[in-house]
Amino acid sequence: MSLAVIILAAGKGKRLNSEKYKVFHEIGNFPMLYHIVNTAKQLNPKRIIIVISEAMKGHEKEIKKKFPDLKFCIQKRQLGTANALDSAKTYFKNEVKKVLVLYGDTPLIKLATLRKLENKLKNKSDMCILTMKPKDPKQYGRVVLNTKKKVEKIIEFTEASTDEKKNNLCNSGIMIFKSFELLKYINQISNNNSKKEYFLTDIVEIFKKNKKVTDYLVCEYEETLGVNDRDDLLKVETNFQKVKVKEFLSRGITILDKKSVYFSYDTKIGKDSVIYPNVYFGKEVEVGKNVKIKSFTHLEGTIIKNNCEIGPFARIRPDSTIYDSVRIGNFVEIKKSKIKNNAKIPHLSYVGDSTVGCETNIGAGTITCNYDGVRKNKTKIGKNCFIGSNTSLIAPLSIGDNAIIGAGSVIKKNVSKSVIIYGKPKIIRKNKKN
Ligand code: UD1
Ligand code: CA
Repeated sequence: MSLAVIILAAGKGKRLNSEKYKVFHEIGNFPMLYHIVNTAKQLNPKRIIIVISEAMKGHEKEIKKKFPDLKFCIQKRQLGTANALDSAKTYFKNEVKKVLVLYGDTPLIKLATLRKLENKLKNKSDMCILTMKPKDPKQYGRVVLNTKKKVEKIIEFTEASTDEKKNNLCNSGIMIFKSFELLKYINQISNNNSKKEYFLTDIVEIFKKNKKVTDYLVCEYEETLGVNDRDDLLKVETNFQKVKVKEFLSRGITILDKKSVYFSYDTKIGKDSVIYPNVYFGKEVEVGKNVKIKSFTHLEGTIIKNNCEIGPFARIRPDSTIYDSVRIGNFVEIKKSKIKNNAKIPHLSYVGDSTVGCETNIGAGTITCNYDGVRKNKTKIGKNCFIGSNTSLIAPLSIGDNAIIGAGSVIKKNVSKSVIIYGKPKIIRKNKKN
C-alpha cells in the first residue's frame, strides 16, 4: 500500500526562546527536522510533505538543497494539529493508501518502530496511534482504553480530569491512517476545547462513533521524546548520544567513558579504535580501524585512516586527512592539511594548508606561517624530512624529500631535497663595561 509521510512543523516553538525555528535546532550537529526526514525516507514513501508556517517559507530553499524531493505545504494560521494535517491533504488525496503523521520536534523515532506501526494497518485497523508509558507522563495527551483494552479516545492534558491524568498511556503524536478514512472524517474535528484548537487527537472518538477501528502500539519512551524547551533539547541530545554509544560499542569500538564523548550524527569509526574520555567529534569525521583518540581531542571535517594515534589535546580542523600510522600529539593544531603515512607531529605545532610527506618528523613548536595578512599560502613538506623544534616555515614554501632543518630556523625560501640547514647560532660577545 502506498504511503505518504506528513511532518508537522508549523508550530511556533516559543518555549525555546530562540531566534531560530524549532525544527532547525540541532541534535548531534544535525537539524531535528533532517533526522526525521532521513528516517522517513527509509520507509520508501511515495511522498514526504512538510507542513510549515508562512514565516518559515524563507527556509524552503535551504531544506530543498538537502532533500530535493520534499513537498512543502504552508499552514496559514497555526490552528492545531488537525488543521495542519488538513492543510496538507491536497498533496496526498487520491495518491496514497496510507498517511503517516510525524512531528518535526520528535527526532529520535526509530525506523523499526515506524515499520511496526505501518504493519498494524494490515490488520483490521483504520488507524494506529504510537504510544509510550513514561514514568512522568507530564502534559502528554492520554490514550484511554476500554475494559477490553481497545482504544476509546485520546484526551488532551488541558482537557483531562484528575482521574484521567493518572493514566500513563500517552500519545506520542505519531499516528498512521488509512488515507480514505482520514479524509472522510478529518473535517468533523471541531475546536470546541479550552485552547480553541483543532486537535488531531479528536479523530479517535469520531472514528469510534463511525465504527472505525483504532489500534495502538507501545514503544520506548526515549524514542518519543519531543522538544518544547531547552531542557527537552538537552534530554533529546543526551538520548541521541546514548544511542550512538550503543551503536559504536556493538560495532567493535572501545569507549572508555560514555558520558564525556560527543558524537555527531554522521561520525564514522572503524573496528578496534579506542576513544578516550572527553573527545569531541564534530561534523564529517571518519576514523579508520585501530586508531587511538586520546582525551581532549577536538575533531571536525577530518578523515583519519588506520592505526593512528591522536592527542591528547589535539585539534584537527576541516579538510584534513591523516593517513595510516600517523602520530599527532598534544597541543597540535592541524587545518586543511594532509599528513601522510607514518609522519609524526608529536607536540606543540600548527600545520595549516600543508602537506606533510611520509615518515617526516615535525619537531615541537614548528609553525607553518600560512597567512601573510592577505592570503592563505601553502606549505609542502616532502618525505622523510626532519624539521627541528621551533621552526617557522613561511609559506608559500616547499621542502624537498629527506631535508633536515635545524632547530629554531626561519625558512623563507624553498629547500631542495636532501639539503641540511642549520640555524643561526647565538653570537657571544664580551660586555665591555665589565
Ligand atoms: C501533541 C498532541 C498530544 C501528544 C503530544 C506529544 C495534539 C492535539 N496533541 O501535543 O496528544 O501527547 O503532541 O508530543 O495533537 N503543529 C503544526 N501546526 C499547528 C500546531 C502544531 O504544524 O497548528 C505541529 C508542531 O510544529 C509540532 C506538532 O505539530 O511539531 C505538535 O504540536 P504541539 O503544539 O507541540 O503539540 P503538543 O501540545 O505537544
Ligand atoms: Ca510538542
